[in-house]
Amino acid sequence: MLRHIGVIGGGTMGHGIAAAFALHDVSVHLYEPSAKQRDDIVPSIRAAYDLLIEEQFINAAAVPAALDRITIFDELAPAVNNRHFIVEAIPERMELKQALFAELDRLCPATTIFATNTSSLPLAPMIAGLPAERRGRFLVTHWYNPPLIMPLVEISAFGNTTVEIYDAVAKLHQTIGKRTAKILKDIPGLVANRIQQAVAREVFSLIAQGAADAADIDTALKFGPAFRYATTGQLEVADFGGLDIWLTVGDNLLAAMDASREASPLLRQKVAEGKLGIKTGEGFYVYDRENIPATRRAFLKRLVKQLKASSDYS
Ligand SMILES: NC(=O)c1ccc[n+]([C@@H]2O[C@H](COP(=O)([O-])OP(=O)(O)OC[C@H]3O[C@@H](n4cnc5c(N)ncnc54)[C@H](O)[C@@H]3O)[C@@H](O)[C@H]2O)c1
Repeated sequence: MLRHIGVIGGGTMGHGIAAAFALHDVSVHLYEPSAKQRDDIVPSIRAAYDLLIEEQFINAAAVPAALDRITIFDELAPAVNNRHFIVEAIPERMELKQALFAELDRLCPATTIFATNTSSLPLAPMIAGLPAERRGRFLVTHWYNPPLIMPLVEISAFGNTTVEIYDAVAKLHQTIGKRTAKILKDIPGLVANRIQQAVAREVFSLIAQGAADAADIDTALKFGPAFRYATTGQLEVADFGGLDIWLTVGDNLLAAMDASREASPLLRQKVAEGKLGIKTGEGFYVYDRENIPATRRAFLKRLVKQLKASSDYS
């Protein structure tokens, strides 16, 4: 059983991954080089746990023990000592990740399993410089943000690891309540982000063409396709609807839809104008600056409600 883990990088993903493991009796060593970021970790984790308590997803009594299970380090070597499994959540740059794993390989025994939380980098070049034995104990474990709430973790089974290593890592994530998806091919973005980008491409195109207002496009998604997706995957939906129907509608509609191979020009324009979304007060919607923390919190609360509802789904 993998019960002693290391998390490298305590930013957006790393502190959330640590918080998720620690709630479920896993000992976590968290290495973060930035002093400012280190100071933010415990308050951020406490705030995230508080939200789960408020939504009655966890009991307040569980929090002190969970926080005790997380030890924060300002140096790498002691953080990775005696760890069964180490996952990195450092910035998305290949050379940084390669350097980190070369160092981890030097510091850790051959038995330690390594994982990367990369969103978009291929596995093959990341492990190319490592010894064969280590490459056989190396996976992508791709979490969704915020990691404490979002249930999905995509896990690579690209052929470099054995079935036993894959199963042990999948079990580690399943025992903390995550839903794992086994990914068979080393493709950028794995599966979930590619599906999300396909939807986003059409949504950005619809708003750019003036097909409907932002709120109406989002209503069409939330109460149309996405309403089913929370319980029923696309392939099940296709089976339930009939593949003959999907064939006809695909032939009729796809030629009329956006097929761009780069990000939407509308996104590019908004970014150039400094309209980055809630963090700058305007994106597709305008946000009242005073209410931004409450708006973010309401978003997280909706996710926790969905998480509670989804506990029944297979
Ligand atoms: N943010 C997301 O929505 C999301 C979702 C899934 C996967 N990811 C992936 O997770 C990884 C981390 O993303 P993030 O959003 O948490 O980034 P982030 O910038 O919030 O955090 C990265 C942290 O790593 C620390 N760091 C920098 N260099 C380091 C090093 N050499 N060793 C150790 N720590 C170092 C930084 O100080 C920072 O705290 C990336 O690979 C990203 O693609 C992000």
